[in-house]
Amino acid sequence: AKEPVRVLVTGAAGQIGYALVPMIARGVMLGADQPVILHMLDIPPAAEALNGVKMELLDAAFPLLKGIVATTDVVEACTGVSVAVMVGGFPRKDGMERKDVMSKNVSIYKSQASALEAHAAPSCKVLVVANPANTNALILKEFAPSIPEKNITCLTRLDHNRALGQIAEKLNVQVTDVRNAIIWGNHSSTQYPDVNHATVKTPSGEKPVRELVADDEWLNTEFISTVQQRGAAIIKARKQSSALSAASSACDHIRDWVLGTPEGTYVSMGVYSDGSYGVPAGLIYSFPVTCSGGEWTIVQGLPIDEFSRKKMDATAQELSEEKTLAYSCLN
Ligand code: NAI
Repeated sequence: AKEPVRVLVTGAAGQIGYALVPMIARGVMLGADQPVILHMLDIPPAAEALNGVKMELLDAAFPLLKGIVATTDVVEACTGVSVAVMVGGFPRKDGMERKDVMSKNVSIYKSQASALEAHAAPSCKVLVVANPANTNALILKEFAPSIPEKNITCLTRLDHNRALGQIAEKLNVQVTDVRNAIIWGNHSSTQYPDVNHATVKTPSGEKPVRELVADDEWLNTEFISTVQQRGAAIIKARKQSSALSAASSACDHIRDWVLGTPEGTYVSMGVYSDGSYGVPAGLIYSFPVTCSGGEWTIVQGLPIDEFSRKKMDATAQELSEEKTLAYSCLN
């Protein structure tokens, strides 16, 4: 039998946490043969709710769940974890300035980075979900220098899955037959959902999405804005954020990272830019990646047209500005 893996979920008493921890305990994230020990962190005002989640996890009698640590102590939460899913953060409230929200999250991610650096397993893989996800991940990377930068990522898989879902709906095909959409850039409304390399499996072979949709106007406008604005649309409909799909996509992100992507398929991950595709190095930017042996690699050599270039640059620009703002909060 495999040794249990310790998985940290921060903000575990929140909405996404509540959807995510049962998925992890069922093996959706790491595989149906991989036992897990869940480490759940939240802040003292949520301690009682967190304990309630722990009670429910016990009651669900998950066969793969070998232990539960539910705590408000960041050191206890981080100790020995090999996977860290960072969902906790400070939400933007009405009337708050961008800088105030950034400042709160910078201080949270700075201190949690230090705890991971000191107490997590050396090869710990980190996924930041909490917004501003790319910039929180960047701060975490800066303050956890001994964790390899390749191990620090942010979630854009939800946006990626939303893009696949929109294409499947439009063409009335199974979502599993659509692949290789790309989310470039920031997990924000400036992200660029790109279908220029996406394909659909059909009875007569694999066909480009552009050829099948045959409606460039829709692909270049409504499709892009629907994916970009989907989070807001869900909040409007549900009065709460997209917790179910965020949790499911977080599992997809870690599962593909650890267990690998299928041959010929790429997925989107927010990763530390090495300058690929002219994206400034030193930003956490969403790229198309393939994963194998527990490592991601940016897909190289995709042709980029002028329309895409502009959108990729605009979202990079926003990330550079976020980075400047985040650094200004450190001083
Ligand atoms: P929520 O407000 O229900 O839960 C957040 C939890 O984090 C709360 O329980 C809160 O007490 C906790 N928390 C706050 N500060 C903390 C700290 N310093 N340490 C540990 N826990 C802390 O929010 P929800 O809906 O679960 O969303 C969580 C985050 O995920 C938000 O930032 C949201 O914007 C983001 N999000 C990201 C998505 C993505 O695709 N990257 C998609 C959907 C949401």
